Amino acid sequence: MDHRAVPRLVVAVLLCLAALATGCTGATVQGRPGASGLRDPYFPRAGNGGYQVEHYALDLDYDPADGELRATAVLTARAEQGLSSFNLDFSGLKVEEVRVDGVGARHNRTGTELTVRPAEDLEKGEVFRTEVDYRGRPKPVLDPDGSREGWIATADGAVAVGEPVGSMGWFPGNHHPSDKATYDVTLTVPNGYEAVSNGELASRTEVDGGRTAFAWRSREPVASYLVTAAVGRFEVATGRTPSGVSVYHAVSPGEAAGSEAALAKTSDIVEWGSRRFGPYPFGTVGSIVMPSETLAYALETQTKPVYSGAPDELLVLHELAHQWFGNSVSPKSWKDMWLNEGFATYAEWLWAEDHGGVGAQRRFDAFLTGDTSVDAAADNDWAAFPPADPPGAEHISDDPVYTRGAMVLHRIRQEVGDEKFFDLLRGWATDHRHGNASTADFTAYAQRRTGHDLKKVWDVWLYGEGRPKAPR
Ligand code: TRP
Ligand code: ZN
Repeated sequence: MDHRAVPRLVVAVLLCLAALATGCTGATVQGRPGASGLRDPYFPRAGNGGYQVEHYALDLDYDPADGELRATAVLTARAEQGLSSFNLDFSGLKVEEVRVDGVGARHNRTGTELTVRPAEDLEKGEVFRTEVDYRGRPKPVLDPDGSREGWIATADGAVAVGEPVGSMGWFPGNHHPSDKATYDVTLTVPNGYEAVSNGELASRTEVDGGRTAFAWRSREPVASYLVTAAVGRFEVATGRTPSGVSVYHAVSPGEAAGSEAALAKTSDIVEWGSRRFGPYPFGTVGSIVMPSETLAYALETQTKPVYSGAPDELLVLHELAHQWFGNSVSPKSWKDMWLNEGFATYAEWLWAEDHGGVGAQRRFDAFLTGDTSVDAAADNDWAAFPPADPPGAEHISDDPVYTRGAMVLHRIRQEVGDEKFFDLLRGWATDHRHGNASTADFTAYAQRRTGHDLKKVWDVWLYGEGRPKAPR
């Protein structure tokens, strides 16, 4: 027994005596409510405290004709404290029943919080299973910047996109990127429709009532904003990259011709990214191309980005770059968004540089001078705020997060040289693979890995207000 065990034993005995004095029996666990949010600087109610989800099994039955979803979500989670109740983030739809470890649980809803009170308190460290039966017509979630996310019905199907908080619009969960989990998503749709989600297709089975169940499986952890489900009359194309990653494209027929050339680059992009950033982090890759009127943006949903209308090559490159930066290495909070978007944007610069296009140095200079003959976006408002400190939730996808985020990376490259810079990119993606990281994690890592003091880059480019001057 080590010497610290003795005082711990004394404390444990005193705690037991105290518990007896307050009338609790040995068998009863003392729980308290889990927090209703994780205090994210931009979305304080997103996510929940007191537990971490290990696995989601989502069973969704969707009828495109009437837009009705009937579903069961099964969450396997581990309690991080004694819990008398805990919250899930969930918006709209009707909760029919909640069970914890097979026993009916009381629940109530306020706003986007679903509070579950198990029949018995949960013990710290306990792994428990929460089942939620729900149904209804999902409504899109409106973002602070006015864009739509969540479950988006189309003329002949639907697609789900969740950045930053849309996933609560179609399944209950711990909807914050800091709690990643594996997923099984089973979609049951009328025969004749295709249904697609992240990861690999484990089975496709005809079931009663002229319906087909598509069982999708993500073996690697996923942040919940990157989970997708898509239903439509897609054209499906499958294959394999030279290094053995399985490919699955689902394309709306009206977008097939326009998508072909860009989607055909998928293997090249995966191989190129694997050289630049380290091994591709997932076993599958592909795309979901929705009709062009579906959304005003694309999203890097894990393994299969969602496009609204035919993407071009650079958009495919951007969304696939997120598989390393954002999806495998995920932000710890929504303040760390530039770790996603700055890196994916810089990947576009590198791709051009490596494929006979404009070099990153020339592009960096063009943004400094606003030279739109080099990059059509060079006159954007990249200096409006520092990328590590957007002035509000409605600004987390503004130009500074993308362009100035990329410029931060280029500034590091200027300071440390190509060899150390590319080692840094690869090291960052490798050492944080399938995890979460913050801006502070990155700045510390960059200094350690390159052996350079980069304080001035952080002060001026990452955190500084105003428009930085050209470095001398
Ligand atoms: N991540 C997407 C991309 O760059 C863009 C995006 C879609 C986004 N929805 C968002 C960014 C919500 C921030 C917040 O490909
Ligand atoms: Zn992006």
